[in-house]
Amino acid sequence: MPEFTLRAATDQDVEAVADVWHRGWADGHAGHVPVGLHAHRTLSHFRDLVPSRIPLTTVAVAGDTVIGFVTVHDDEVEQVYVDASARGSGTAASLLDRGEHVVGERYDRAWLAVVAGNVRARRFYERRGWVDAGPFDYSAETSAGTFTVPALRYEKVLRA
Ligand SMILES: CC(C)(COP(=O)(O)OP(=O)(O)OC[C@H]1O[C@@H](n2cnc3c(N)ncnc32)[C@H](O)[C@@H]1OP(=O)(O)O)[C@@H](O)C(=O)NCCC(=O)NCCS
Repeated sequence: MPEFTLRAATDQDVEAVADVWHRGWADGHAGHVPVGLHAHRTLSHFRDLVPSRIPLTTVAVAGDTVIGFVTVHDDEVEQVYVDASARGSGTAASLLDRGEHVVGERYDRAWLAVVAGNVRARRFYERRGWVDAGPFDYSAETSAGTFTVPALRYEKVLRA
């Protein structure tokens, strides 16, 4: 298992976060979302999306390398991404725990969107106590507005 630590993201992490997001997005979504979304998921588009999220983001770092990140927006765990080299290592679980902790400071329940075909992510969430609350249309942010993506809403009760 690689050694890693979690810390708040800084403006110096924009490029690395965009890179992990870009590569991980393809792994989790290619073939599982409307083809039109692919045009909005280039590296340069992710570079546009990351800066406003830096204050909402925690990164996992191994040495000086960003190997994953979690972004929390209100009660939504909006992004959980781990570099392929760090999958299956517990890094993602630590990031999700951090995301849940941040949501739990203000809310009793967290939610996230996952596409039905992203089986690995769904299994990961379900193992961590998240429950499929059904299909809905997710408004994915792009650098040109929003794009509607058929998705599943997953929820986790943080405080009964
Ligand atoms: C989703 C993600 C954060 C999970 O992190 P991870 O380190 O891969 O998670 P884990 O390996 O701990 O858990 C994944 C589970 O899926 C299983 N799995 C692995 N490959 C799989 C596959 N191809 N299909 C289905 N399940 C798979 C694993 O065995 C594990 O289940 P288990 O704990 O019951 O053995 C990571 O895979 C990732 O970054 N994916 C790309 C980006 C992404 O899709 N993010 C989520 C967007 S909603």
